[in-house]
Amino acid sequence: MIDPFGRRIDYLRVSVTDRCNLRCVYCMPAEGLPLVSHDDILRYEEIAEVVREAADLGVTKVRLTGGEPLTRRNIESLIVLLARIDGVRDLAMTTNGTLLAPRAVTLKAAGLMRVNVSLDSVDPDRYAEITRGRCAARDDGTEAPDAGACSAAVRRSPGLKDVLAGIDAALAAGLTPVKLNCVIERSVDEPDARGVADYARRRGLEVRFIPRMDLATGRFGQVVGGDGGACGRCSRLRLTSDGYLRPCLMSDVGFSVRELGPREAISLAVKSKPEAGGVCEKHWIRRIGG
Ligand code: 5AD
Ligand code: SF4
Repeated sequence: MIDPFGRRIDYLRVSVTDRCNLRCVYCMPAEGLPLVSHDDILRYEEIAEVVREAADLGVTKVRLTGGEPLTRRNIESLIVLLARIDGVRDLAMTTNGTLLAPRAVTLKAAGLMRVNVSLDSVDPDRYAEITRGRCAARDDGTEAPDAGACSAAVRRSPGLKDVLAGIDAALAAGLTPVKLNCVIERSVDEPDARGVADYARRRGLEVRFIPRMDLATGRFGQVVGGDGGACGRCSRLRLTSDGYLRPCLMSDVGFSVRELGPREAISLAVKSKPEAGGVCEKHWIRRIGG
């Protein structure tokens, strides 16, 4: 598929859930966001149907995102459906890594090829601060406890060691190349970014540094490493967990696959791709994992 600005569209990012077990400060408020109702979330067979049509129209790369994709039940069964689709040559997942260690082998067996793991710091305290891990609201909808009243949450909250174990497990399982996504405040020289860069070098991993986007204004910067953030070379479409095809992260436009059917929704989304992203009022990044 070629969009109105001559760009080849061959990459589909699929958000499988808006739920997440972390509350990263730059992504979500501490208490979480209102969740999409279960009836509105696409079933696995519906997602597979969209990917089949997309592959038929020329999409070759598919990435599962969230929220946190590993919080959705039996995501392996979706991966099995997607791995079977002719034309899907790259099947990847973006994950926060906290739930990855015990699942890496089954994900690989299901047909997942590789993972990108979000890692903003290798300092356990900073990691907890950024992800609000010490005191995070849980996915059962409870309020974030006060700092003094969260010892149970502290014990249950996923931490840096889970992520590092997840990365090791992914490497061992062959979910490679494992790449890291690191959100930076200002520069790749800030301490957290340097720590991640050192860790990545020791482990032989590629890192992409993603400038923190201001969700209030929608301003975003060029990604360092990888080719995200460059509108002129954008090749992507996005499918939200509630079944809308979005031409651009920075736009509020979406086409319902349930109302229009996958093929029509895909082709309208391609035709609607803007030349460059503008300001988005609705902050979809939180729901569609970047
Ligand atoms: N700025 C930049 N990236 C963000 N992400 C989420 N919120 C933001 C933000 N405000 C991205 C991060 C994270 C992925 C799941 O979503 O890259 O690793
Ligand atoms: Fe969850 Fe990723 Fe958002 Fe952090 S950035 S709260 S891990 S979806």
